[in-house]
Amino acid sequence: MMKKILIQLDTDSHASTFDRVVAVDSDVDELFSFGGVTPENVTGLVHGAMFTRGPGDLKNTAIFIGGSNVSAGEQLLAKVQSAFFGPMRVSVLMDSNGSNTTAAAAVLAAGKHLDLSKTTALVLAGTGPVGQRAAQIICRLGGSVRIASRSKERAEATCEAVRSQVDGASVSAVETSSVQGTLAAADGAELIIATGAAGIQLLSAEQRGALSSLKVAIDLNAVPPAGLEGVDVFEKAVERNGALCYGAIGVGGTKMKIHKAAVRKLFTANDLVLDTDAIFEIGQNL
Ligand SMILES: NC(=O)c1ccc[n+]([C@@H]2O[C@H](COP(=O)([O-])OP(=O)(O)OC[C@H]3O[C@@H](n4cnc5c(N)ncnc54)[C@H](OP(=O)(O)O)[C@@H]3O)[C@@H](O)[C@H]2O)c1
Repeated sequence: MMKKILIQLDTDSHASTFDRVVAVDSDVDELFSFGGVTPENVTGLVHGAMFTRGPGDLKNTAIFIGGSNVSAGEQLLAKVQSAFFGPMRVSVLMDSNGSNTTAAAAVLAAGKHLDLSKTTALVLAGTGPVGQRAAQIICRLGGSVRIASRSKERAEATCEAVRSQVDGASVSAVETSSVQGTLAAADGAELIIATGAAGIQLLSAEQRGALSSLKVAIDLNAVPPAGLEGVDVFEKAVERNGALCYGAIGVGGTKMKIHKAAVRKLFTANDLVLDTDAIFEIGQNL
């Protein structure tokens, strides 16, 4: 049987050991890892993947795009795809900084308890790559999303990015630079996903406890202090003040399962592009 080769293209100077371990645990036979990959130097690496095996065998070669800089990963994905033509292509998975798998795992956790097509969600500090992706997935499912930021302009820009991905997205920008602003933003929301930078508290336990509409609260920050004060990093669907709470490591198990399933899926065809929506769909089918 032809060996499954995963070509890891990482935008950081060293290819991520995390992504390498997951690749090995996802039954990849050979892993070629490259660090310091940029749109300027990637084409030769892609041609090497496209032109070695015949079209019928190309599903046994695939590309993983990673690295800590998500926008650099997006640019690399565009450049990789532009190198393909006709049947001469291999499947690609993009998960820079775990952004797609983390957002998918958070939304899946929420969907266990809520009909997301009818849910109003607040994504706190939703202007980063994880928040934007979580918002995109919920909008795709038909839910309404408020994207929060300390800056209304940044929130608006993220809403625009979501609208560019999801036609008719129900998404609005809210400013949360004050406690009053945060409480107003959360008013009536059934779901909060906190996607703030590591080690930043976004909501106190008292403020969270006072939100009568809140049914599910998910904190994706694993570095103390918690983004949602009082939500333990390991917890999974623990009820607090009437809301089911998840911590970052609580959703981490699902994230790992999605990552491995996505790597395995790469080797089922030679023309897959596994980005936010496709990765969420893989999670739905776990
Ligand atoms: N479990 C996992 O495997 C996993 C994987 C990936 C990420 N994560 C975690 O998920 C979270 C989101 O990741 P990300 O990469 O999307 O985050 P990020 O880009 O680092 O930050 C998200 C947002 O946090 C806000 N922020 C930054 N500094 C702040 C401060 N001092 N005070 C208040 N808000 C601040 C910013 O929003 P504004 O400036 O617009 O207010 C920023 O856009 C992080 O905590 C990350 O560690 C976990």
